[in-house]
Amino acid sequence: MNKVSVRQARQKAMIGQQVCLQGWIRTRRDSKGGFSFLEINDGSCLANLQVIADADLPNYEADVKKLSAGCSVTIEGEVKESGGKQETEVLAASVELVGWADPELFPLQKKRHSFEKLREWAHLRPRTNAFGAVARVRNQICKSIHDFFQEDNFLYVHTPVITASDCEGAGEMFRVTTLNLDELPRHDGKIDFTQDFFDRPSYLTVSGQLEAEIYATALGKVYTFGPTFRAENSNTSRHLSEFWMIEPEMAFFDLTDNMGLAERFLKRIVSDVLANCIEDMEFFAERIEKTAVTRLESLANSEFVRLSYTDAVEKLTGSGEKFEFPVTWGQDLQSEHERFLTEQEFSSPVILYDYPRTIKPFYMRVNDDDKTVRAMDVLVPGVGEIIGGSQREERLDILESRMRDQDLTPEDYWWYLDLRRFGTVPHSGFGMGLERVVQFVTGMANIRDVIPFPRTPGNAEF
Ligand code: 4AD
Ligand code: MG
Repeated sequence: MNKVSVRQARQKAMIGQQVCLQGWIRTRRDSKGGFSFLEINDGSCLANLQVIADADLPNYEADVKKLSAGCSVTIEGEVKESGGKQETEVLAASVELVGWADPELFPLQKKRHSFEKLREWAHLRPRTNAFGAVARVRNQICKSIHDFFQEDNFLYVHTPVITASDCEGAGEMFRVTTLNLDELPRHDGKIDFTQDFFDRPSYLTVSGQLEAEIYATALGKVYTFGPTFRAENSNTSRHLSEFWMIEPEMAFFDLTDNMGLAERFLKRIVSDVLANCIEDMEFFAERIEKTAVTRLESLANSEFVRLSYTDAVEKLTGSGEKFEFPVTWGQDLQSEHERFLTEQEFSSPVILYDYPRTIKPFYMRVNDDDKTVRAMDVLVPGVGEIIGGSQREERLDILESRMRDQDLTPEDYWWYLDLRRFGTVPHSGFGMGLERVVQFVTGMANIRDVIPFPRTPGNAEF
């Protein structure tokens, strides 16, 4: 028989068809009229399918009347027009029980559970409405990311997960080693990494940017999309220790081109979600964050504000707003400042650019004022920083001196410097945190609830 999804069986055009459905019971309700209503979900959409199981079914007493939330079933029957709020329902010709879920033990009961509680059940939470919706929206965002770049002739390149270089220079890297930690080999009092697997200290990558630059300065426009790791001990609703980052890198692009690309990219993601996930988005608007849909519509139709860091500092200090952390030129902006700009001051996405050189990594291009670099951060309401990028320093001598300023050894980055020795070009790129985007789109308050298996300090179960 024709296997269909719940999503398909809910369409009016299916009326009259014989179908086979497989999924999990959400609820069972017995009618006095001698039949039961089963609500089936299979993850294909937010909504359930209503199934009518008649008392005439041979296993009605033995199985059907014992079905409870979490049981898996195979149902064959005919799609009928429904008198209820849905367009269709299925009249079952057979209900086959595939797997029981003991109602005394199955944790997901009909009452709503807090997201904190559901994190303890990360193996079951995708069976809830909210996590099913997050998974579908996240999938759509990933598809849009590839579509956007592929349609614009970017090449997808894979950068390494294990690396010996710290791209962001922030020293927040997880070490990768096969050394015996109980008996570390030493040489001159220091750990002897020549005996380690890669003959040198190695780490999980914090960013694929440096390697993406290699491909951009050969092939023009490229992007990476992979997991990145940060051993930063921050327990916030916006930080993960393992997250997915999308990093386009473009030769012959200056910072203005870079900002334009970032703006088009975000707008494309948001319009695709509105076009393809409206049922899930309406769920978020109703249950999670009132403005979930309107916020996306307004982003798709707005022009992002572009503001230099220096002007932003002026706006913040002149705002009269009491911040926990005072704002002074030369200090990094805190998330409260970023959110003030994007949520209160402009009520729009904001791109800040030209940050002080002292607070940004070595690879950003130094401006003629010698005080600022060609950095940009895209800030959005509800989340703050969603994208960070820059024009890269393409001048060899300046790049080397920036490295020394930041206590990096240029020789360690010989291959990166070669890109400036041989046919150097102005180039730019940025990194977008996938989970920050999913957070922005869905309105989910905590980043741990938009990735299937969050990794944060102290948490690596599942
Ligand atoms: O601003 P970041 O650190 O930039 C880079 O890593 C550059 N190398 C990117 C580039 O130019 N190719 O990180 C980029 C983005 C941030 O804007 C944020 O969205 C996300 O990555 N991000 C995190 N997301 C979740 N948890 C964390 N701990 C994150 N750190 C950064
Ligand atoms: Mg950043």
